[in-house]
Amino acid sequence: MQQFDNTMIADASADAWRERDLAVLWHPCTQMREHVTGSMAADGRHDYTLPLLPVERGEGEWLIGRDGRRYLDAISSWWTNLFGHAEPRIAAAIARQAGTLEHVILAGVSHAPAVELAEKLLAIAPREANRAPLAKVFYADNGSAGVEVALKMAFHWFRNRGVEGRTKFIALDNGYHGETLGALAVGDIPLYRRVYAPLLAQALFAPSPDAYLCEPGETPADRAQRAADALDELLQRHADEVCALILEPRVQCAGGMRMHDPLYLKRARELCDAHGVFLIADEIAVGFGRTGTLFASEQSGVQPDLMCVSKGLTGGALPLAAVLATQAIYDGFLDDSREKAFLHSHSYTGNPLACAAALASLAIFEQDDVIARNRTTAARMAELAAPFADHRHVADVRQAGMIVAFELTQRGDRRTPFDPTARIGLRAYRAALQRGVLLRPLGDTLYWMPPYCVGEDALQLLADTTRAAIDHAVEEAACD
Ligand SMILES: Cc1ncc(COP(=O)(O)O)c(C=O)c1O
Repeated sequence: MQQFDNTMIADASADAWRERDLAVLWHPCTQMREHVTGSMAADGRHDYTLPLLPVERGEGEWLIGRDGRRYLDAISSWWTNLFGHAEPRIAAAIARQAGTLEHVILAGVSHAPAVELAEKLLAIAPREANRAPLAKVFYADNGSAGVEVALKMAFHWFRNRGVEGRTKFIALDNGYHGETLGALAVGDIPLYRRVYAPLLAQALFAPSPDAYLCEPGETPADRAQRAADALDELLQRHADEVCALILEPRVQCAGGMRMHDPLYLKRARELCDAHGVFLIADEIAVGFGRTGTLFASEQSGVQPDLMCVSKGLTGGALPLAAVLATQAIYDGFLDDSREKAFLHSHSYTGNPLACAAALASLAIFEQDDVIARNRTTAARMAELAAPFADHRHVADVRQAGMIVAFELTQRGDRRTPFDPTARIGLRAYRAALQRGVLLRPLGDTLYWMPPYCVGEDALQLLADTTRAAIDHAVEEAACD
């Protein structure tokens, strides 16, 4: 068996840096043991070493490593980056703001970046003709915190009306909404959830409309209908215990970039209305153009009651989240009693630097006609992805706008997943990094989610590297 060597992707100075890092840092979402060269699976058969990439700076779609090499950021740094790293217009807006007002408490205080951003977000939010628009913005400082805000608002709104029994949320199988305990309670990814299950609030889970799970002969729209029928049944049995349905419109990202027909959200909206339950759209990963429209909910013609955004909100430059709510939800908290107020806060709520970055990012959408330009880029991604459908280990190639995903299985069909202990995704990650591409597969799902500025050369490199990484991963696993 060939052992993976961390130094294979870098020179000696990067290696010294790695040692310095590992002496003090605990990295997110990482089994830290795997960063030690020669990290072996329990059975001693598989090498699980996870290379640590020391990065010095970013430039457009590229990360420049301490080894001087360029790495394509094919996953937009956890889906945050929209227009490339160190985007000059966003950097300038942050610098300008830093020289004026870097931060101030938002309780009892107002400032221009927070107000202007709220006005802008409400103006571009999804809109249904016969529904009162989203009317108020509440800020938080990361996606999970934004989800907590939306969940608490939905629950508290019913409480304020004297309804005590609506203590549950409905979420979707295979959904993901973040890592804090409230967000984790409405998530359904066992790897993140299982260990904390005893701590989590109760949620009810409805079948996912995931098109990858279509039965033979079933279309994605059929699958969406079937999942919506199951949601209807769940609501019929439990609506009086439920305050909200939370879901990721169009793509369950952390769940493996699983995509569904927009019909599902449309039906979910109707069902929430029929059962008097709020609809929370978690647009944290799919918002700001990722799936082809500014917000994924638009593809279903749906306006949620609460909408969470984060990640791309600042173009990927600074942490910020916003929850957009209807006037009716806001009004439900107006009272003489402070207990009926929404007393949720974070110290950095509405941070002026982050709001300034977000305003600059939203301006770029207009200046560069981003949504139209992305259509051309997405079409090119589709061309480059199409040949993978014939690859012997690719069971599915799917796309929603600027997201493309490849499902890897042993025989290229949906019934023969790889043995998870073979860690095909990890091996593909290492192989891609050695070739200058930062892919970060979700299990055995490889995906492309590059910054929107990605150029033709980078896309070609991405396609070539993806193919090489798949082949390398499978061959390497077979040799173990
Ligand atoms: C759909 C969705 N919701 C919420 C979150 C949590 O956001 P954060 O990582 O900023 O807490 C994520 C993060 O990946 C996400 O994809």
